[in-house]
Amino acid sequence: MSIAFLDGTYLPLEEAKISPMDRGFLFGDGIYEVVPSYAGNMVGFAPHIARMQDGLAAVGINLDWSETDWAELCNRLINENGAGNLGIYLHVSRGADSRRFHGFPVNIAPTVFAFAFDIPPPPVADKARANSYRVSSARDLRWERCQIKSTALLGNVLHFQQGYENGHDETILFNANNELTEASACNAFIVKNGTVITPPLDNQLLAGITRHIVLDILRRDGSIAVEERVVTMDEVTSADEVWITSSSKEIAPVIEIDGVAVGDGKVGDVWLAAQALYSAGKFNY
Ligand code: PDD
Repeated sequence: MSIAFLDGTYLPLEEAKISPMDRGFLFGDGIYEVVPSYAGNMVGFAPHIARMQDGLAAVGINLDWSETDWAELCNRLINENGAGNLGIYLHVSRGADSRRFHGFPVNIAPTVFAFAFDIPPPPVADKARANSYRVSSARDLRWERCQIKSTALLGNVLHFQQGYENGHDETILFNANNELTEASACNAFIVKNGTVITPPLDNQLLAGITRHIVLDILRRDGSIAVEERVVTMDEVTSADEVWITSSSKEIAPVIEIDGVAVGDGKVGDVWLAAQALYSAGKFNY
């Protein structure tokens, strides 16, 4: 049985109940995070919390929680839930109102909900043991504020489902100019001639914490060149390697897009080097 947190109380997940008038339920009016934790050690805790605080500020949800408050919550959930391979889901909605009204209500308290769920063991830098991914591609039809980690995920859900219905693990997305944005629940990278390239941060994609850690670790190491710049669809289809990154997948090698092999169709050497560096350095974040 997993133990969750709802508005100040730790309780079995099955017993956690919210009002149907909660704006998270009615409007998707909220912000969330997923922080990975392995054997009690979180990856990227501080940047995850900073991104959530930025998201709350961006949508005008006032919650007076410090980083220490979030750390206490996360550590308690890790202890209560067995400290294995866990994703810690953190969710703050604008709160429950007495009526359905689009404008921000005054004097309601945000709803704070959190729970822990099992995630797979982290990838190891070994081509023979790597999970490789087959993905679909689609025109990105989400909104123009993708930098906000909003709980209103219908656009992402519909894009994920497109790939899923094709038997694929994800859907990578291109804007109207045929430029790569990200995937439905991951950031996206290509590798060309040994250089790792990912789209720059803007309103078209989430500033992924895994993306940040990958870029920082590679730049500090210095043996692999890194670029943040626009990536075209042609560059994706002619890339040597394509990766998708997220907190639970870390660096995931994509070997096929829309049924067509990426590069030689095998997990690449640059992935191997990058995942080795990531595995060695991730707990420093
Ligand atoms: N997804 N882009 C989108 C749209 C995402 O939803 C996510 C994360 C990422 C990667 O971000 P990070 O490296 O910080 O996990 C990029 C989470 C895990 C989810 O929705 O479950």
